[in-house]
Amino acid sequence: MSTDRGPLLEVSHVTKRFPRPEGPGLLTVLEDINLSLAPGEFVSLIGPSGCGKTTLIRLMSGLMGCDDGWIALRNERFESVPKGVGFVFQEPALLPWCTVSENIAFALTASADAGKRRPGVDDLVNKQLELTSLTPFASYYPTQISGGMQQRVGLARALVGSPDVLFMDEPLSALDAFTRTALQADLGRIIEAAATTTVLVTHDIDEAIFMSDRVVVMKANPGEIAQIVDVPLARPRSHEALLDDADYVALRTELMRILLKVSPHIFNNSGN
Ligand SMILES: Nc1ncnc2c1ncn2[C@@H]1O[C@H](COP(=O)(O)OP(=O)(O)OP(=O)(O)O)[C@@H](O)[C@H]1O
Ligand SMILES: [Mg+2]
Repeated sequence: MSTDRGPLLEVSHVTKRFPRPEGPGLLTVLEDINLSLAPGEFVSLIGPSGCGKTTLIRLMSGLMGCDDGWIALRNERFESVPKGVGFVFQEPALLPWCTVSENIAFALTASADAGKRRPGVDDLVNKQLELTSLTPFASYYPTQISGGMQQRVGLARALVGSPDVLFMDEPLSALDAFTRTALQADLGRIIEAAATTTVLVTHDIDEAIFMSDRVVVMKANPGEIAQIVDVPLARPRSHEALLDDADYVALRTELMRILLKVSPHIFNNSGN
């Protein structure tokens, strides 16, 4: 059974190879990745396009197996998606014929019709609706709410089963800048309240700092962890308060410098 000691999730010497699309042989996409997540920790993965961020969270969540090394949740190694894992992707992929609350309930029942019949489901769904400020929209259909609200439904659906670890792959990148900033604050508050261990993939340095306890910077070809940067900013955080926070500005500069070192063209269009 579970133990509260040690890391919640551990990645040890993980390597992943894919067949080369252009010919024979294998492409090493990730090499010798080592990472431990403490319970309740929020970790972001940033790095150039193609460095293996999505592949790494697919491995960490059991969606895909690794070629070398191992990954363990509460000291138990796994090769398929273990119990207690939640996902939020770039597109929330809500069921269009289900209301907001039915979409959230679906995660618990795996059947929209059965959603209302299982005892306890209503309470859990109502709690998530409240946490994500969606209670007034419980009976709306996905097409009747904004993209930002749809993404909040996606988050509520991921959290309703109280996952041990939440994996988010660019959950806000399809949104406009203002909605995105507002949702970062919402996500921070909601995930903090749920105390869920979280791994976020993002291309946005500010988002990574705002949300995280640690930022993992990756390099490409092969994908490796270049550096892990601690984010010792007090919580709760607000964008306003961080605007002229010297520690925040210093962290931002440090991350930019690391990214430029691992990927000199990352901030222009001449490649990775
Ligand atoms: N199923 C697959 N088969 C073959 N190659 C793959 C597969 N999935 C990913 N790759 C390759 O692995 C590398 C890393 O891909 P991945 O999607 O993990 O990068 P990423 O860091 O998430 O990029 P982005 O920031 O653009 O989302 C890329 O070169 C990609 O082409
Ligand atoms: Mg990706």
